[in-house]
Amino acid sequence: MDVYDRIHARQPVHEVVRFISDNNIEFDEDEFLQQLDIVVHRNQYYAKQLLKQMIQHFESRGSDFVETMYEPYINLLPVGAPDPQDSDIIQYRFDRYKVVIEETPSLICAQGTTGFRTWEAALFLCHYMTQHPGLFVTHDSLMLELGCGTGIISILYKMIKDSQGDCKAGTIIVTDGDSNLLQQVSTNFQLNGSLSNDGDVNIGFQRLRWNEDELSNYNEIDLILAADVTYDTSVIPDLVKCLSQFKGAHGYISCTERNLDTLDAFENELTRNCIYFEIVSRISPISFKQISERDISTSIRIYKISIN
Ligand SMILES: C[S@@+](CC[C@H](N)C(=O)[O-])C[C@H]1O[C@@H](n2cnc3c(N)ncnc32)[C@H](O)[C@@H]1O
Repeated sequence: MDVYDRIHARQPVHEVVRFISDNNIEFDEDEFLQQLDIVVHRNQYYAKQLLKQMIQHFESRGSDFVETMYEPYINLLPVGAPDPQDSDIIQYRFDRYKVVIEETPSLICAQGTTGFRTWEAALFLCHYMTQHPGLFVTHDSLMLELGCGTGIISILYKMIKDSQGDCKAGTIIVTDGDSNLLQQVSTNFQLNGSLSNDGDVNIGFQRLRWNEDELSNYNEIDLILAADVTYDTSVIPDLVKCLSQFKGAHGYISCTERNLDTLDAFENELTRNCIYFEIVSRISPISFKQISERDISTSIRIYKISIN
């Protein structure tokens, strides 16, 4: 992750400045102003805080680079702290892929859903997908995402698919139980140029409330992806019932280990429904820091499931 990756992913500004200091980063003035312009358009308050701390850093070093930052900083002085309802456009980097997501990062829960922001379990699954593209992307397959939230997993899946010459064709069905989210997911696909119809991949957006809504082509699903859908014991029975109908499919479910009782309940429910599972990857908070600009306080695990 270079310094601009960190800035566009909204790493806390003190961490960005520490990275600049630790690595003695020098900036090309034109490129800096160009990148800053993008940040100012997306999140003025972050741009202001970043400039403030960068000015302090470069002033303390007696660097002329501060001159570049004074004017944009002064222009941003009147900008106040954002409202938790304010959206931002955040760019996440996974290996060579950059995914742009419009979301409400400070909104943990609103209108009965937690899907207005991107959760860390999704970031870990995205990372895992880029590390093992062959496990996910096959020719002419039908992928279903459950509880998609901002849609980041399906968008990255489509990018990986597009980049694999012989695996392009297929269908992606992006679902969430909350239909208010689906319009934003469609916008996020557009932001990434992923809805441009190149004729190879069909993309559908659909409300799918587990164990309540039905999918017409449920028996054609090859692959299921989901992240942070096991956040509460009360949702587990419906989630697993929903999974159990996709006979012959396999899936990857990324789960934050907030409460081990909930994950025990998930495993028990999978077993009761004859769904085979194994943990294929797990990341600790310390290791997560190597792959993401975010901090986590508990580990995240990825289950591979096979539905018989
Ligand atoms: C914690 S968010 C995770 C969102 C996204 N997967 C991520 O990791 O960023 C949980 C998501 O599951 C969806 N969800 C919760 N209960 C659901 C249900 N019963 N049926 C379908 N979706 C549900 C929510 O609307 C929300 O988008």
